[in-house]
Amino acid sequence: MPVVDVPPTAPSHRGADFDALERLDPEIAEVVRAETRREADGLQLVAAENFTSPAVLAALGSVLANKYAEGYPGARHHGGCEVVDTAERIAVDRAKGLFGAAHANVQPHSGSAAVLAAYAALLKPGDTLLAMGLPSGGHLTHGSPGNFSGRWFDVVGYGVDAETGLIDHGQVRELARSHRPRAIVVGSISYPRHPDYAAFREIADDVGAYLVADAAHPIGLVAGGAAPNPVPYADVVCATTHKVLRGPRGGMLLCGQELAERIDRAVFPFTQGGAQMHTIAAKAVAFGEAARPAFTTYAHQVVSNARVLGEGLAAEGFALTTGGTDTHLLTVDPAPLGLDGREARERLAAAGIVLDTCALPRGGAAECHSREGRGLRLGTAAVTTQGMGEAEMARVAALFALALRGERNAATEVRELARRFPPYPDAPYRG
Ligand SMILES: Cc1ncc(COP(=O)(O)O)c(C=O)c1O
Repeated sequence: MPVVDVPPTAPSHRGADFDALERLDPEIAEVVRAETRREADGLQLVAAENFTSPAVLAALGSVLANKYAEGYPGARHHGGCEVVDTAERIAVDRAKGLFGAAHANVQPHSGSAAVLAAYAALLKPGDTLLAMGLPSGGHLTHGSPGNFSGRWFDVVGYGVDAETGLIDHGQVRELARSHRPRAIVVGSISYPRHPDYAAFREIADDVGAYLVADAAHPIGLVAGGAAPNPVPYADVVCATTHKVLRGPRGGMLLCGQELAERIDRAVFPFTQGGAQMHTIAAKAVAFGEAARPAFTTYAHQVVSNARVLGEGLAAEGFALTTGGTDTHLLTVDPAPLGLDGREARERLAAAGIVLDTCALPRGGAAECHSREGRGLRLGTAAVTTQGMGEAEMARVAALFALALRGERNAATEVRELARRFPPYPDAPYRG
């Protein structure tokens, strides 16, 4: 049974609205149908993805999409916001309650927009920023030369220990002392262990820097009590509302009361215009779902599944960065089969196993400019929402190895396994 806390009578995401789409624009309706099939027929192991609930999809597809709402509840630049204001107030209150934050801003259109606003609130162009280097798992917004972060700030990258794959806090402290950054960022796209927020807070205090936690990946685990909460340690927490948190694609910011006004002004009017009220309502729905006991069970199951998947992959001979995981994600090296990340990803995709490439700690500097790392990143958020548990994860590890070795029947078994756990059980089209 899926662990999603949704009553069995919940309407399918293919409700009246989809019928209208089919009638009015069959071409795009067919895209939706095909994507529904693709998502249901494979193993979705992209660590940043999940299956949102029918309630989240319903809010996203509602008339709230029509409303323009620049500003904040009670202080909008547009008329007629009194109804959507309620949605934003609920979303803010639920986010504050869920994460124990004094202030929440739920307007960022994405995780990157949340990070941009956090920097805008705390830094000036030309300031120094210390963040995880991209070859070690930093996000584009942590200093990529092609991103605003690398263009507008003087970014210094810290790494991970080449042997253990763990953050070397001694190196972070040394870099902080020699470069005196205005802000230090803790967060990554592929670090499989819990960051030590207290250690980062201590280093930031030592050099008088702000501490920004980019918790886009772990925030859903935090909501379910399966990962430490950065809120008590960081000046600002940036996050996405999708990924493990299972809400709509979007971002949010959490901070103390003293930075609340600066954060709000950094989002609107500095980096964004009108808030997207359908997405904000969907964020509220997701925060409400994440506050229920079933989500705590889910978050712990996600971690347990990742651990078992990692153990299975290790037993198949693949080296895991840091030797395992504490979270929803893990990264492995396909080198034992003579494959680089891209070749391995393509072979797996041919069998219906969908995931990402990633940099590995010992990767060359070239990976800094490339999104095509030599490793693979897997996540268990989506398959856990489908209801898969440890037994299925052990099988997924075996199928992963079979698919990488080019065994033809891996694809059939992947599809059979995926179809036993439909993400939307009442969707009428499944292949
Ligand atoms: C650590 C981190 N920061 C920021 C982001 C950006 O989120 P978005 O793709 O919504 O802009 C991501 C997305 O994966 C991320 O992992």
